[in-house]
Amino acid sequence: MNVKGKVILSMLVVSTVIVVFWEYINSPEGSFLWIYHSKNPELGDSGSQKGWWFPNWFENGTHNSQEEEDIEREKEDNEELQLSDWFNPEKRPKVVTVTSWKAPVVWEGTYNRAILENYYGKQKITVGLTVFAIGRYIEHYLEEFLTSANKYFMVGHKVIFYIMMDDVSRLPLIELGPLRSFKVFEVKPEKRWQDISMMRMKTIGEHIVNHIQYEVDFLFCMDVDQVFQDTFGVETLGQSVAQLQAWWYKADPLEFTYERRKESAAFIPYGEGDFYYHAAIFGGTPIQVLNITQECFKGILQDKKNDIEAEWHDESHLNKYFLLNKPTKILSPEYCWDYQIGLPADIKTVKVSWQTKEYNLVRTNI
Ligand SMILES: *[C@@H]1O[C@H](CO)[C@@H](O)[C@H](O)[C@H]1NC(C)=O
Ligand SMILES: *[C@@H]1O[C@H](CO)[C@@H](O)[C@H](O)[C@H]1NC(C)=O
Repeated sequence: MNVKGKVILSMLVVSTVIVVFWEYINSPEGSFLWIYHSKNPELGDSGSQKGWWFPNWFENGTHNSQEEEDIEREKEDNEELQLSDWFNPEKRPKVVTVTSWKAPVVWEGTYNRAILENYYGKQKITVGLTVFAIGRYIEHYLEEFLTSANKYFMVGHKVIFYIMMDDVSRLPLIELGPLRSFKVFEVKPEKRWQDISMMRMKTIGEHIVNHIQYEVDFLFCMDVDQVFQDTFGVETLGQSVAQLQAWWYKADPLEFTYERRKESAAFIPYGEGDFYYHAAIFGGTPIQVLNITQECFKGILQDKKNDIEAEWHDESHLNKYFLLNKPTKILSPEYCWDYQIGLPADIKTVKVSWQTKEYNLVRTNI
């Protein structure tokens, strides 16, 4: 497929190659113009042209067969696996494996992947993964991120990569496996990296509303400056999934770098807070991720109005969100490890690792 006549994208299975140009019309409310180039109208057009949204979906009784299938699938999803079927917290006695609200903290060794594979395999799930690459993040990180995700992310399951770039013509050439497809969107670049980071929340939410909710069962949102090193599998799936930040997983909550100024919407007072979560990886069902992104963006806007910026930007707001709405599953730092810490015995298998942060090279402002 030819993007602006410059880059040829090849895949083992071409049936689902879709390129979407996401064009921003700069109005205060943010209205959007969509241009689809699709080889597979079924996938490419699902949702966005129907013009309806969750509330209607539940209210109207009129469904076509595709919608009935979705509802069937929804029913099957409700026959949840019991936690005890696949999760054994006692396998990792030296680390926190269950939260005070009884959510599992998934560490290597605590889960039975075969049982989970059997369960999710029958449901024929599709998992989405959003990633943003703006400016120099494209040449520094995107190719390695995608190549490694192709190899290790949800192996054996259908995956859709949602790639958001400020210049789609610079999409690297990558050969994807047969169950993988991707959609590329052009996003307007913000000048400051802090704004790029915060605008992600808005953009992800809009894409979930417009199409992602119809396309996947679970969605992960990840930073591009990291690399998959081992299987990031179905044990990570859940309603709302948060990632423990590698540097803080053993720290006292009093030390966490939460936003501590009352004036910010992300404010968390000393004495509160469960964990320090890393915004580099979060996920859940599309409806839950939509709520996460909408609530975080609301906080960001409120802060802008009050002329304050949370210490760690979208991550501060994400931590506030997960304080109020506890995640149903937490991923151990093995899922997002920073080798600069070394490799303590707690870290049995690194699934994803941070890339060297070449901030001076990739960021246009400090
Ligand atoms: C739901 O009802 C509204 C109003 O009656 C209608 O406009 C819309 O097309 C319906 N949606 C579906 C999915 O049937
Ligand atoms: C969405 O977030 C709001 C604000 O934190 C919360 O009150 C609400 O329960 C959340 N909704 C869902 C479906 O989690």
